Amino acid sequence: FEKREHGEPLKNVKVLITAGPTREKVDPVRYFTNHSSGKMGYAIAEQAAKLGANVTLITGPTSVDFPNYVHVIKVESADEMYQQVMNYYPNADVVIKSAAVADYRPIHTFEQKMKKSQDHLVIEMEKTTDILKELGMKKRQQILVGFAAETNDLEQYAKKKLQSKNLDLIVANNITTEGAGFGTDTNIVTIYDRNLTKTELPLLTKTEVARKLLEKVQSLVKGVKE
Ligand code: CTP
Ligand code: CA
Repeated sequence: FEKREHGEPLKNVKVLITAGPTREKVDPVRYFTNHSSGKMGYAIAEQAAKLGANVTLITGPTSVDFPNYVHVIKVESADEMYQQVMNYYPNADVVIKSAAVADYRPIHTFEQKMKKSQDHLVIEMEKTTDILKELGMKKRQQILVGFAAETNDLEQYAKKKLQSKNLDLIVANNITTEGAGFGTDTNIVTIYDRNLTKTELPLLTKTEVARKLLEKVQSLVKGVKE
């Protein structure tokens, strides 16, 4: 198996990863979404598989090629992602939630194409379920990793999300920084652990960020298994 890394440090570890944006339908031709490309999550899935993990990737619509040796489940809406994540969660050792899940969805989905009859249009929206928060509440032995993409007050928001969602690690990035965030092949992230110890990484490829993150995951997995 030349695809595998020596020693396979994540061998027999079940890793559940979410990636990409979601689509929240308005009518048969329109939806709400965001700029997530899926590249960060796909890089994590690919690298985790190379390290020997048993990887399930739950992905919203992207134009990135599926990684090899990964079980891929395609979803569209936040609700579909929620259903699939809950399905796989009880059996997972590690969950890495890099998906950019819609926070709101239209209350009504129209069966027929909406016509442009009015000059102003208001679409009423309701909150989606915070998948990661729910995982945090149900957590037993699992290691939970979240992401925080922010435009401002990065450290403060990231630490707040780490604590309020009961995470083990959070990967924070400022999406307004050149070379970081949506669509690029690179990222600049800071990782915080439960003790709020921070690891600031320089500009790296998303593959390199994935490796650094998985090193941290690996040492947490060891802690649980010992
Ligand atoms: N997340 C989730 N389900 C949601 C929204 C977010 O699982 N409905 C997860 C994301 O996958 C990410 C983390 O929560 O790992 C943080 O997402 P983010 O959008 O940065 O934070 P929110 O908690 O949604 O808060 P806000 O958008 O207001 O900053
Ligand atoms: Ca959000």
